[in-house]
Amino acid sequence: MSSGKLKFTVNPGSQLLGAIRVPGDKSISHRSIMLGALAEGVTKVSGFLEGEDSLATLQAFREMGVSIDGPVAGEVSIYGVGMGGLSQPVGDLYLGNSGTSMRLLSGLLSGAAKFELVLSGDESLSSRPMRRVTDPLQSMGAEIASEDDGTAPLKISKSDHLSGVEYEMPMASAQVKSSLLLAGIYAQGETCVTEPAPTRDHTERMLQGFGYEVRRENFGDGESKVCLTGGGSLNAVAVDVPADISSAAFFLVGASIAQGSDLLLEHVGINPTRIGVINILREMGADIELLNETISGGEPVADLRVKYAPLHGIEIPLEQVPLAIDEFPVLFVAAAVADGQTLLSGAEELRVKESDRIQVMADGLAILGVEVEVTPDGIIIEGGDSFSGGTVESHGDHRISMSFAIAALRATAEIEILDCDNVNTSFPGFSQLASSVGLKIRES
Ligand code: S3P
Repeated sequence: MSSGKLKFTVNPGSQLLGAIRVPGDKSISHRSIMLGALAEGVTKVSGFLEGEDSLATLQAFREMGVSIDGPVAGEVSIYGVGMGGLSQPVGDLYLGNSGTSMRLLSGLLSGAAKFELVLSGDESLSSRPMRRVTDPLQSMGAEIASEDDGTAPLKISKSDHLSGVEYEMPMASAQVKSSLLLAGIYAQGETCVTEPAPTRDHTERMLQGFGYEVRRENFGDGESKVCLTGGGSLNAVAVDVPADISSAAFFLVGASIAQGSDLLLEHVGINPTRIGVINILREMGADIELLNETISGGEPVADLRVKYAPLHGIEIPLEQVPLAIDEFPVLFVAAAVADGQTLLSGAEELRVKESDRIQVMADGLAILGVEVEVTPDGIIIEGGDSFSGGTVESHGDHRISMSFAIAALRATAEIEILDCDNVNTSFPGFSQLASSVGLKIRES
């Protein structure tokens, strides 16, 4: 994981031209391993993200006795062991930087593990809040313990007698929802999770794809409820992982802000719970076209064509916040070169991501000459014409590193970004792919 040594140096200017496919969706890749491991039969995955986060999930299941071939060129075969077939790993399950692995596995293993185990992670993951999953899991009867301050490592003590729960999430979190649903498939009775606003629904879609009944109810005001009944089983299927819209987002912003750009992003997942970045950029004036829309493996996909367009600042609609939660670092870059002010609120969750993404972005933007004001749950950004050059800290956060690399497209001098190793968690080969369409980036 991050050794803090990799540096990006990006020369100013240029434009993005061509056609690329960014790596596979991280959320869907994690879930394909989890459900494939517990299924009856062989699950064949294509388009799997070979990034450190999803590989951490893959390795965790290997350590629990699941045979997995690959990944080779994004192809993975998982030989499912069935709902009760996992075995005790020799040591801790080390999950690196991956919040999704830790939170989803805490639920899944609270039901599936007939043994004691420990989930651990790197420095960033070990400082992120875990009570959001351990508290409701304990209320289902799970024996799961965090450190006193509610962080990892998490210890699960053979808690295989769970009862269903009716849980209203205090925050819009797909990780919490998924953790409880994955515990719920092992619980007696019904487990229902109500979300205050729609969050990504890949777990629900994939459970249904593997033949597990999931009931969903929308209340019309954004709130919705997902329920399932424990005791069922999963049947292996083929999973086609689309390109990750969160990785495509860097190029959507890059091409939107760099004059002369015209870029095609192929086979991108456009699940309605993930397209906040497209909605927000379009409201700012971006020119993004959806082509060849289709459904693949239960998930909507499309090719995205994006061309340069002058952007203007907006007040970001509250309902778009959970739909664009991972894309705000790069959306801040768009806002910084848009005409006028952009205001984000209702985004306090950004403070507990791989870094405090509000503060870390604000600090970097300020170094690059942008006027910003940080608020407890958001940021106000005064748009300008360009970024100055400078050296910014990513704090080991993959999305911060890539966002500042994109900023160089509208900079007047070179931008250096420190501590970029963790780009490999979600977007291996970022520099090479970005270079291939025109970004003047080098690694050292
Ligand atoms: C994810 C959910 C989101 C997101 C993360 C991946 C998932 O986290 O930020 O990158 O795969 O369920 P929260 O549920 O904490 O918002």
